[in-house]
Amino acid sequence: MSRQNDFSVEMTSAISSVWGRLAKTPIVRGEGSWVYDIEGRSYLDFTSGIGVTATGHCHPLVVQAVQEQASKLLFGQMNCMLPEKTVEYSRAIREVTPDSIDTFFFSNSGSEAVEGAIKLAKVSTGRPNVIAFQGGFHGRTAMTMALTSSKGIYREGYQPLPSGVFFSSFPNAFRDQCDADLAVKTALADLERLLKTQTMPSETAAMLIEPVLGEGGYIPTPKAFLQGLREVCDRTGILLIVDEIQSGFARSGHMWAHESSEVRPDILIMAKGIASGLPMSAIGASGELMSKWQPGSHGGTYGGGSPLAMAAGLATLQVIRQEHLIENASREGEYLSNRLRDCLSRLPHRTDVRGPGLMIGVELISEHGPDKELVTHLQHECLNRGLMLLTCGIGGNVIRWIPPVNVSRSEIDEAIDIFDQSLNSVMEKRETLALTS
Ligand SMILES: Cc1ncc(COP(=O)(O)O)c(C=O)c1O
Repeated sequence: MSRQNDFSVEMTSAISSVWGRLAKTPIVRGEGSWVYDIEGRSYLDFTSGIGVTATGHCHPLVVQAVQEQASKLLFGQMNCMLPEKTVEYSRAIREVTPDSIDTFFFSNSGSEAVEGAIKLAKVSTGRPNVIAFQGGFHGRTAMTMALTSSKGIYREGYQPLPSGVFFSSFPNAFRDQCDADLAVKTALADLERLLKTQTMPSETAAMLIEPVLGEGGYIPTPKAFLQGLREVCDRTGILLIVDEIQSGFARSGHMWAHESSEVRPDILIMAKGIASGLPMSAIGASGELMSKWQPGSHGGTYGGGSPLAMAAGLATLQVIRQEHLIENASREGEYLSNRLRDCLSRLPHRTDVRGPGLMIGVELISEHGPDKELVTHLQHECLNRGLMLLTCGIGGNVIRWIPPVNVSRSEIDEAIDIFDQSLNSVMEKRETLALTS
């Protein structure tokens, strides 16, 4: 029996239909890698709410920190007062960011942080334009939509979007079936051309890049490409903004996914896994750069002022440290990737299992091209068997594996069993259909 029988349309009619949804039956409880719906069914949540519940659902230390804080101070508006927890968090986050990133602005969502980072880059350089990369996703507010090119639906119907955004190509050796070095060289040459023909360095405030393309297909940004961007930025005075909203906080098997490239960002953007489920985001930069932001020229009622989120953020850092989650993401990510490669080896498709740590993309290409149909069927078969998975990629043909960073080996084994059964079932149906048509 399907786990997702048509859940009463009447009961959910007061919720905007703009939210497409994977699992339709309301969820009442979450614990670790599991969630439970109102009909008592359990699901392995390998979406982590798009990377938010990094320490699993309701980690006891996070819950305790939030409960204790809730009885002390719920809110302290940053222009009116300085909540103690914000001070404490700013010191704690400084311990885990690159040396050059030592001053922080806090807000609520990822988009808000991206918007803020762009404002900081523009005001500090006095330059008007920004370069983003093809396939990137940076949010859904007006400016962040303008910076996003992972799917047409995020922009369609909302144009014209804010101006001053230019796109350069992202190196994708798997898609282009070329050598990885050649893909990087070609993309860097595109960037140089853009800087000569459309937005001169003197007009370009920043480049904005995800160290692992998220929504765009879970494609790790090659180290050589990040290093090439750094070199261009150093030469031209353009700021390098690294968007670690989805890839940060141990997800990649490092604290930050860009770490392995040894590239220094000028501005680092964080959110999602930062507070294990409470809305929180941050922009990090050097004190010198931050000081170019005139007091009052950026802010917001809720910016930096949620002691609850700060408490959850502090507990999240503690859990990452105490439970060795960086090591867990690295070890279990490798195990999961290998098990996925085994499962997929029987497919006639061209497949790619990629990604650092527990940010794994599985791309399926059939002889006809990106196999979105197979990926969609697989996603639903998995859901019916109790495994929640998301998809991504421009062609909709990438399955993204983004379990909590503290996922256990036995949970991964359980997820792989479900995935394997689902794959068998979908392929059998396909074969039957092919024989009867
Ligand atoms: C890399 C990246 N940047 C920005 C955002 C936007 O964050 P939010 O949805 O919290 O506004 C997301 C969200 O998925 C993201 O993955």
